[in-house]
Amino acid sequence: MANRQPLIGGNWKMNLTPADARGLCSALLDGLDAGLLAKCGVSLFPPFPYLSQISDLTAGSGVSIGGQDVSAHENGAYTGQTSASMLLEVGCTSTLVGHSERRHGLGESDSVLNAKVLVAMKAGLDVMLCVGETLDERESGQSEAIVLQQLQEGLQGVSINDLGRLTIAYEPVWAIGTGRNATPGDAQSMHQSIRADLGKQYDVGSANGVRILYGGSVKPDNAEAIFAQPDVDGGLIGGASLQSEDFLDIVRAAVATVDS
Ligand code: 13P
Repeated sequence: MANRQPLIGGNWKMNLTPADARGLCSALLDGLDAGLLAKCGVSLFPPFPYLSQISDLTAGSGVSIGGQDVSAHENGAYTGQTSASMLLEVGCTSTLVGHSERRHGLGESDSVLNAKVLVAMKAGLDVMLCVGETLDERESGQSEAIVLQQLQEGLQGVSINDLGRLTIAYEPVWAIGTGRNATPGDAQSMHQSIRADLGKQYDVGSANGVRILYGGSVKPDNAEAIFAQPDVDGGLIGGASLQSEDFLDIVRAAVATVDS
């Protein structure tokens, strides 16, 4: 894992009541001792209406919070959207961009996602850019070409100086919420290609500093084998992030790869 500290993200998606969200957050904070947090970053991505409450609960804990999405615009007449500065105001330090449920589910294009990356970074948010191929694309042998295109188009205009604020999440669409995860070898192979491409777009040293997370049906029983791969720097967790014990076990799996 080179010198990159692992990161585990919990993407709560559109789940939980406010009370459940607070309860989950409290259970996570109880389980995340300083020893774990010294070895593994933890970021939570709650639904927008809960961000303020979760921000209050996590303040000073070492657990960071982020938006599940951000507007491509700085402000103005964009009904229903949330700006980067609003996310910062409620305590977010980062945002997801390009999650497949937006990219494929809502038809967000690479150019819109690129605008989101640039606006978020300009405002001072860290960005977790999600990339991943569909099952059709995988079966027709296009996985790598598709993922690298998403990467290159998503990062147009991002300067090498901002790479320290970038995380990539490789989330094959066919693995999200399906119980069918990529094998550790498949994940490593794609992560290696992503890192090599970042090395070409920027430089190898900078590419080696970028964390690349795997997402898609990560569970306590498969996490450690995936995280042990040299170019996998943790995970972006959906379903299992809603169960405190599962999520904590996944954080422990990431820490185990640092300790081993
Ligand atoms: P699952 O872990 O439920 O497959 O979701 C992954 C994901 O989409 C995280 O962003």
